[in-house]
Amino acid sequence: MRTEYETLLVEIPKPHIVVLTMNRPDRRNAFNTQMGLDLRGFFTDLYVDPEDVRCVVLTGSGAKAFCAGGDLKERDGMTTEQWAAQHAVFEQMTLAMMDCSVPIIAAVNGAAFGGGCELALGADFIYAAESARFAQTETRLGIMPGAGGTQQLPRAVGVRRAKELVLTAEPFTAQEALEWGMANRVCEDDSLMDEALEAALKIAGNGPIAVRQAKKSVAMATQLDLKTGYAYEIEAYNRMVSTEDRMEGVRAFNEKRKPYFKGR
Ligand code: COA
Repeated sequence: MRTEYETLLVEIPKPHIVVLTMNRPDRRNAFNTQMGLDLRGFFTDLYVDPEDVRCVVLTGSGAKAFCAGGDLKERDGMTTEQWAAQHAVFEQMTLAMMDCSVPIIAAVNGAAFGGGCELALGADFIYAAESARFAQTETRLGIMPGAGGTQQLPRAVGVRRAKELVLTAEPFTAQEALEWGMANRVCEDDSLMDEALEAALKIAGNGPIAVRQAKKSVAMATQLDLKTGYAYEIEAYNRMVSTEDRMEGVRAFNEKRKPYFKGR
């Protein structure tokens, strides 16, 4: 796995777990074109080969921000062509994250504004620090969400709440995100990473193929009718039946020991 990026820090605090830190603290981790390329590269590489990565924790550098969205300094004065070319990179970044088979936990440690809110929504679930703030600020800037926000937010908080948030561009708190179903947990600021890593460890201890197949299948729940979704689930399930891990999981239960999964 590539670990050197211009705008990202890649750390492996425990086996199978990657902490991916957006690292432009002087700009509140806003993503410029380079960060779009870096995030696209990171998630595309995982798509091609997850290697032994079993969970990614996505966070931001510094105490103030998870990510402040698109880099408004870089974008200032961009021509139509430059804007469109940059946005194409952000679209690929968004799609690469959507297609990532490895679970992603967003550990939202501060402001998740604009595209930063969308990146958090692009994760499988969100743990937020008490002091974290969210906002889809784009309409205030004369633009609109373009990294999945208008699709992900209604799925998280419902269509009416999403409209209110996108159309007013008003910030909301971690506690509100929790109440509305967007964040799974609010953590004390100091324990956010510990709690996110604890969840990552639980995921990493489970059968990696089972986890990846289950993630894909759950993602279909909001996109397919029940019977088609169930047909998809059966296909996902069948991929797992022939694995060594399936044998190991059941054997370990009966031998009253922890399973040792190999991801095959
Ligand atoms: N792009 C580029 N630079 C950004 C940025 C962005 N999206 N967000 C913040 N910065 C820069 C600021 O311009 C400032 O730089 P300066 O010191 O050179 O002036 C620095 O980061 C610190 O920002 P500041 O606003 O002082 O930090 P804060 O902690 O008080 O507030 C935010 C953080 C994220 C709440 C606030 O900066 C903000 O609202 N940013 C814009 C978010 C946004 O609307 N993004 C959508 C983009 S499409």
